[in-house]
Amino acid sequence: MTTTRRRAIALLSALTLASGWLGTAQAGGHDSAAPAPAPAPAATPMPEGYVPTVLVTGANRGIGLELARQYAARGWKVIGTARKPAEAKELNALAAASGGRVVVEALDVMDLDAIDALAKKYEGKPVDILFNNAGITGGGENQQFAKNMKWELFDDVYRTNVVGPLKMAEAFLPNLVAGYQKKISNVSSSQGSIGTTKTGTLYIYRSSKAALNMVMKNLANQLKSKSIAVALIDPGPVDTDMMAMLPKKMLRPVNTAGSDLIRITDQLSMENTGTYWTFDGTVLPW
Ligand SMILES: NC(=O)c1ccc[n+]([C@@H]2O[C@H](COP(=O)([O-])OP(=O)(O)OC[C@H]3O[C@@H](n4cnc5c(N)ncnc54)[C@H](OP(=O)(O)O)[C@@H]3O)[C@@H](O)[C@H]2O)c1
Repeated sequence: MTTTRRRAIALLSALTLASGWLGTAQAGGHDSAAPAPAPAPAATPMPEGYVPTVLVTGANRGIGLELARQYAARGWKVIGTARKPAEAKELNALAAASGGRVVVEALDVMDLDAIDALAKKYEGKPVDILFNNAGITGGGENQQFAKNMKWELFDDVYRTNVVGPLKMAEAFLPNLVAGYQKKISNVSSSQGSIGTTKTGTLYIYRSSKAALNMVMKNLANQLKSKSIAVALIDPGPVDTDMMAMLPKKMLRPVNTAGSDLIRITDQLSMENTGTYWTFDGTVLPW
């Protein structure tokens, strides 16, 4: 394939990603009548002086870095993971300026043993919120049915977007039980909404986010008995490397997306656990 053709396909895929989001909103795909989640108190009131901890995967850039920044600005402890911590310049700078509240950990969420090893390192320490953010699309040009389908890509995308988040929840379950907020927030995508899908693109990415939604809905049901709430949140089209092919004016600033994800996570409770929201708090169709 020529470079020009590859670029054109990548641009088209990025546009599809964005038009999916915009189309969902324009077509009224959201359940616009659904009420935004009401503010919810912490599962158990936090004791005076308690500093909550958030664990964010893929915190070295994009939405994950922004989540780490905003939670750190709130005074929280942040465990930010990166595949290559030595190259995580901005996250390392955040950690250096945090007085020990932000720590950087090496983690590839495709490596299940590494997830267990990280959980072992934090054994006995509370984690209030697990933010499953790390994710990949696999590239739109690589998932065109009957044209250019990189079948082996299913493995990488599913391991990153579905298996990794579920394994994180399993490995850090004792830490979540020990925390006060008891929440798992997953950065999903409106691309995972089967009910609003209108085009035949992004087979791998879309189905991975639909699968993420299903495993996390299961988990929300199962973890009710432990008072752990689970959210699936679409950040909308955001100005990160993932969407670098699109003009900035089509994208939402990363700080706005970060604060939307945090606001919805603040409002997550045992009453609304297992809900699939978009960034403005409306409920998306599965
Ligand atoms: N941007 C959007 O418009 C948009 C819209 C809907 C949903 N989302 C979702 O939002 C999340 C964050 O996306 P983003 O826009 O911030 O993308 P991004 O800028 O491409 O960042 C992706 C992050 O995930 C990390 N990551 C990828 N594979 C990993 C693995 N195997 N193990 C650990 N970390 C891994 C990356 O680490 P490296 O630096 O090592 O690659 C990076 O930190 C994703 O789940 C994405 O699907 C994004």
